[in-house]
Amino acid sequence: MGDDKNRVQEIVKGITNLPTLPPVMMQVLSLMQDPKTTADDIGKVIISDQVLAANILKVVNSAYYGFPRKINTIIQSILILGFDTIKNIILTTSILDIFSDKEEKGGFDRDRFWEHAIACGVATKIIAERIGCVMQEESFLSGLVHDIGKVVLDRFLHDDFKKIVKKVNDENILIIDAERSVLGITHTEIGSWLAEEWNMPHSFSHAIAYHHDPLLAKEDTIIVSIVHVSDILCRAIGAGSGGDKKIPRINREAWMKLKLSMSAIESILKRFDEEMEKASVFIELSRSM
Ligand SMILES: [Fe+2]
Ligand SMILES: [Fe+2]
Repeated sequence: MGDDKNRVQEIVKGITNLPTLPPVMMQVLSLMQDPKTTADDIGKVIISDQVLAANILKVVNSAYYGFPRKINTIIQSILILGFDTIKNIILTTSILDIFSDKEEKGGFDRDRFWEHAIACGVATKIIAERIGCVMQEESFLSGLVHDIGKVVLDRFLHDDFKKIVKKVNDENILIIDAERSVLGITHTEIGSWLAEEWNMPHSFSHAIAYHHDPLLAKEDTIIVSIVHVSDILCRAIGAGSGGDKKIPRINREAWMKLKLSMSAIESILKRFDEEMEKASVFIELSRSM
């Protein structure tokens, strides 16, 4: 056991040059903490990064928000959508940017991975809205990042991750079980650690840490349960792929927590296609960055 613990620590220490959030994001975050900050102040920082500014406008003008008229400037976007939404859009586009490696290496299909991540974000948002929990933006992001640890493993511990993917395919097991046996550390641990490093809200790191074992969560239990259910729903309907084919069972207690009837699933899935269509801007961004 002691050895395992050391190994985990060593692995985490070994990933030293983890990608950091773009400086603009850091600046925006600190500006937002100051109550005197105006939309103008934030706008100036954002437009200093032309690519980011263009991506924000793309998202803001997409069907995801569905505004009837075109929003032409960053300032307008901030005034219409508010600080929190803009912050979440920057976080979303930054994550897609930082982690969307184009090449598929060692059998882990990035396009299908992002499709799974975005689908899980969409399902999380729909369920969160339905049961009247948390902000929509944040729920989308919690689903989007739930498996982020896998891309960290793929990038920084690539040889081990290749072995993991091979084991998953050979034995038809869950990727998390293959991670445990090959590395002794899982995407949930790596991902939640990254979320903490990036100072993301705790609800994100909890959703990442416990989406496979929702009952272990002591806080944010609702969003953890929603992401758990959404991940499995997306597996069941084949929306993208998180790298494994197995469909685990939905945890009964987590499901009960959400107080959803079985018939709710049908209407959730009906809305899913529509919402996925609207979220296509994120699929586009994951492929173009
Ligand atoms: Fe996962
Ligand atoms: Fe997943």
